[in-house]
Amino acid sequence: MWVQEARLPTAEPELYIPKPARILRVRKLTEYENLFDVAFCDGRLLDHAPGQFVQVSVLGIGECPISICSSPTRPGTFEMCIRRVGSVTNHIHRLGEGDILGIRGPLGHGFDVDELHGKDILIVAGGLGLAPVRSLIQYIIDERSRFGEFHILYGAREPKELLFKNDLTVWRERQDVNLHVTVDRPDEQWRGKAGVVTTLFKELPSLNPSETAAVVVGPPVMFKFVVLEVLSRRIPQSNVYCSLERRMKCGIGKCGHCQANNVYVCIDGPVFKYGQLKAMREAVE
Ligand SMILES: Cc1cc2nc3c(=O)[nH]c(=O)nc-3n(C[C@H](O)[C@H](O)[C@H](O)COP(=O)(O)OP(=O)(O)OC[C@H]3O[C@@H](n4cnc5c(N)ncnc54)[C@H](O)[C@@H]3O)c2cc1C
Ligand code: FES
Repeated sequence: MWVQEARLPTAEPELYIPKPARILRVRKLTEYENLFDVAFCDGRLLDHAPGQFVQVSVLGIGECPISICSSPTRPGTFEMCIRRVGSVTNHIHRLGEGDILGIRGPLGHGFDVDELHGKDILIVAGGLGLAPVRSLIQYIIDERSRFGEFHILYGAREPKELLFKNDLTVWRERQDVNLHVTVDRPDEQWRGKAGVVTTLFKELPSLNPSETAAVVVGPPVMFKFVVLEVLSRRIPQSNVYCSLERRMKCGIGKCGHCQANNVYVCIDGPVFKYGQLKAMREAVE
C-alpha cells in the first residue's frame, strides 16, 4: 500500500497565532462581497507576495482563508474582498470600522514576481477570481516599467456581480493596460460585451507566446476552457500560472484538509504552474 509521506513541521511558530488587526474601512462591492481595509494593531506590516492569503478569525466563531487582494507595493494596510457564504464570512460582514479581526499570515506560495519581470502578462479572471489576482494587477501597475504588454480579461455572470468596478474604470483609462470585460447574462443597462470570458480572447492582439506569462484564476469550469485557449496561443505550459482554492483548516501544512494528490495547497500553492496542476487531477476536476 502506498502511504503519503508525513510532512516535517516547517511553519514558523508565529504563523500559529492570530495577530489582532483593526478594520479601518469597509466598502460594499456587490450584494455579497465587501472590501475590508485592515491594519495590524501593533503597526507591523503584512509583508506579503501577490497571490498569498491569510487566515482570518473571529473570536468564538472560527477562521477561514482569504486572499490578500492589495499589493505589497501599497504597504501600511492590506485589503480583503470577502464573499459572505457561511458562519465566519457572515460574521465578518457584520463587523465595521474599528472592529478587530485575528490574522495569521501571510500564508502560502504566491506569484513569483521575479519570474514574471520582463514578460508580457495576460491575466484571465472569472468571478471572485479577480480578488486573488488584484494584488498582482496592482503590483504590475506600480512596477509597470518592469513588465511588457499587459492584458486583462475579466468575466462575471451578471453586471451586478462585477467586482472592483472603480478599479475597472481606472484600469480601462490607462494606455498601458489592455482591459476587456464581459458578462454571461447582460441586463438592459449593460453596454459592454456579453458572453463567457473565453469570448474575450478574440479581442487580444497577436501575442509573443514565448515572452508571455498567463495567469488564470476562476471557477474550475472556467479554468479548463481558458487554459485550452491559452495553450492554443502557444504560450508554454511553464508560463501558465493559476491560483487554486481548496477547503483549508490550518493553512500551514499540518491538518491535511487541503491535500490534493501529494500536494498541500496551503503551503505548495495556492499559486501553481499549469505543469504542476496537470499532475494533480484531484485538484482541478
Ligand atoms: C486560498 C484561499 C483563498 C480564498 N480567498 C477568498 C477570498 O479572497 N474571498 C472570499 O470571499 N473567499 C475566499 N476563499 C473562500 C473562503 O475561504 C470560504 O468562502 C470560507 O472558508 C467560508 O467560510 P464560512 O465559515 O463563512 O462558511 P462555511 O460555514 O464554512 O461554509 C458555507 C458554505 O461555503 C462552502 N465552502 C466553505 N469553504 C469553501 C471553500 N474553500 N471553497 C468552496 N466552498 C466553500 C461550504 O461548503 C458551505 O456550503 C478562499 C479560500 C482559499 C482556500
Ligand atoms: S490546510 Fe491544513 S494542511 Fe493545508
